[in-house]
Amino acid sequence: MTVINVGIAGLGTVAQGVLELIRRNGALMHQRSGVTLRVVRVASRREKPEVDLMGARFSTSLEDLLNDSEIDLILELIGGDGVALDLIRKALAKGTPVVTANKAVLAAHGNELLAGSGKQLLRFEASVAGAIPIIQSISGGLAANRLHSLFGIINGTCNYIFGKMEAEGTPFDQVLAQAQALGYAEADPSFDIDGIDAAHKLTILLALGFTGHFDLSALHIEGIQHVTLADIGFAKELGYKIKHLGIIQNTADGVEARVHPALVPMNALLANVNDVMNAVQINSDGAGGTLFSGPGAGGEATASAVLSDALALAQQMTTGSGLVVETAGADADPAESVNIVPMAKVVSANYLRIPTLDQPGVFAQVTQALSEFSISIDAAIQHEASGGQQPVDIVLMTNEVAEETMNAALAKLQGLDLVASDIVRLRVAPGA
Ligand code: HSE
Repeated sequence: MTVINVGIAGLGTVAQGVLELIRRNGALMHQRSGVTLRVVRVASRREKPEVDLMGARFSTSLEDLLNDSEIDLILELIGGDGVALDLIRKALAKGTPVVTANKAVLAAHGNELLAGSGKQLLRFEASVAGAIPIIQSISGGLAANRLHSLFGIINGTCNYIFGKMEAEGTPFDQVLAQAQALGYAEADPSFDIDGIDAAHKLTILLALGFTGHFDLSALHIEGIQHVTLADIGFAKELGYKIKHLGIIQNTADGVEARVHPALVPMNALLANVNDVMNAVQINSDGAGGTLFSGPGAGGEATASAVLSDALALAQQMTTGSGLVVETAGADADPAESVNIVPMAKVVSANYLRIPTLDQPGVFAQVTQALSEFSISIDAAIQHEASGGQQPVDIVLMTNEVAEETMNAALAKLQGLDLVASDIVRLRVAPGA
């Protein structure tokens, strides 16, 4: 029997999912892979929770993992780019294979970590889209293709929040608390709701699928906190759902790469991906359109991806077979950077919710301001005023317009006396 001794760093939701899956399905994993994964040590800086470690040793020092000569493979499940990065660097330097779910580390340091022996020793399926084998699909299944575009729901927490707001009318803060209780959100949930987590994941997908050297700071990153129940209701009236998307598009001018909330037509596949589910839609030259969907967060769902990597590495170590994940950008010369299209040049149709004073002629002034920028209106909603001094929302769908033009028009609109508070602007998903 081939046994691979595993050390786990961290003892949060994902690490507990890993322990549970090994306990429940260890024999099945052995049957499929010929390898038995035995957890021999768990290290976490926090006090040990009431978790069955299946006989593994526990310590609060991560160094103990590195110094434990019995360990063949380390699962880094701490998160963040502090001690986790240090642990991965040291393990790889010693030649110990590492599986990580850490998108923050990969987005910022992936090229460094995957240089040299890191290519064979580091795997990161769980870093993007939870249980969905998207890394293997891009690196392996679609390896023969040139990718044209990728659209995805890649943050489970944001999708869960929008879904609950839409279905139950639950306010944002309450749903976020539920997502945290379910173990979906990051330790610092602002990473989810400010779009940073999705941007980390999109950067990894860019490096894998779109050859070149990419920089997280070149991405347009927008979160979901400005989207209200009113916006979700208006979008529904107009035939759309609001989803937080990661978008990559190859264009003649370079690659568009952005994360932001977007209106998706009700009948589109992505509109019907609900709860904590993620989905990634890839269009490529040979395979055409492919869609991958599954749980994007949660202990066992993420553990499933962690263990697929652990088994692949274990097979690689024992039989020499197994996949080697190679990022297209790992060895790229920064001088060969692919041009990320500046957000100002990106073209989208837009949803605008403009809270206005309840006065005659307001609608005409709004449309006049937009027409000065040659922006036309594809649809409009204005409900009857509820009375009193309450602002009245004017909701408009614009034609497709360059970001810089839309921004200039928004600045003009926001400055009008009749606009009562901040305008909400959401883009429509490309191709919608
Ligand atoms: N907080 C992340 C999410 C966890 O909600 O998608 C999975 O990466």
